[in-house]
Amino acid sequence: MTTYKNYREVLLLTIVGAILALTLYVYVRADSELNRKYDVPLAPLEFPEGPGIVAEGERLARIRGCFWCHGASLEGQKYFAEAGKGIIAVAPDLTRVAREYSRAEMARTVRHGVKPDGTSLQPAMPSFAYYNMSDADVAAIITYISSLPEQDGFQGRFELLPIGWVRWVLGRLPSNVADLIDHTAPRPDPALAGSPENRGRYLAESICTECHGDNGRVRVPGSPNLEIAAAYTKTNFIRLIRTGIPMGERDIDYHMVDASKYRYTLLTEAEISAMYAFFRSLVPGTPNKDSP
Ligand code: HEC
Ligand code: HEC
Repeated sequence: MTTYKNYREVLLLTIVGAILALTLYVYVRADSELNRKYDVPLAPLEFPEGPGIVAEGERLARIRGCFWCHGASLEGQKYFAEAGKGIIAVAPDLTRVAREYSRAEMARTVRHGVKPDGTSLQPAMPSFAYYNMSDADVAAIITYISSLPEQDGFQGRFELLPIGWVRWVLGRLPSNVADLIDHTAPRPDPALAGSPENRGRYLAESICTECHGDNGRVRVPGSPNLEIAAAYTKTNFIRLIRTGIPMGERDIDYHMVDASKYRYTLLTEAEISAMYAFFRSLVPGTPNKDSP
């Protein structure tokens, strides 16, 4: 009888011990991933001053969706909280961040997803798209954000709940955004002397990749490969980008509709035409000769 009881106790202790060991393992793995440091040097950026810079910075920030996630005054908000998925993502108050970080640190955070302490942001922040932003554009956006009055903004922080650790270790949660970026890849040249295709490529790679991804890495499920845009006439393409109404006028996913209505009305006609020229150039046999 005693032996039998001992046996049950040993079994119970073994099970409890195994669960504790596994929990510790999962926690340590997730924690070491979250706190991994990335060695990305600060870029020597110039921050030009001038009457037009702040307004242009705001336009660029709106087009790239900073307000969509960080709130109508960039005051920060809960971006998504799915307790079942074990993650609470917060898009922080950027007016506060702009006071805590130097402008060069801010630029590295936006384009590389690497914070001043060397740790990475989570992939809810689309730094993989903003990596492609030119020095001038990122500088204008940061000059604009730094010009904003400090808000009494949202204070919450990113949290990974225990179920989140498990999903992380199982590879079910996307890992650090800094892992999705080749930190030494050349950026698309924004100077783009005279070529609408190059200008369009720059715009598409630093704007549309947020959802449409690149190299097949689609971010928002359902976003098609953008070669589809080559099938559009220019008139229909401009209408889609400005209003979210696609060819055939079917109802499409709200991500695209909202991006068009709230962000891309700020794109100039020349910028939309340049993107169109770029998409047409992706598909051989569709020269950009289609007129409005
Ligand atoms: C799709 C949503 C989304 C968009 C669009 C977005 N952000 Fe973020 N951003 C986030 C989230 C979520 C975080 C927090 C990530 C984390 O917790 O690691 C974040 C973090 C940041 C941080 C780091 C703050 C810190 O505490 O270190 C900066 C800086 C930032 N974003 C700037 C921008 C700028 C500038 C833009 C526009 C060019 C932008 N974001 C667009 C979601 C977004
Ligand atoms: C916030 C996410 C998001 C952004 C940013 C975004 N898109 Fe989309 N886009 C989508 C989604 C999702 C769909 C799929 C819509 C559907 O089929 O219901 C889509 C569909 C499309 C389509 C196909 C429409 C069709 O006929 O089926 C084109 C073309 C397109 N987007 C172009 C662009 C361009 C160009 C940009 C950048 C200027 C861009 N998108 C930025 C999410 C986005």
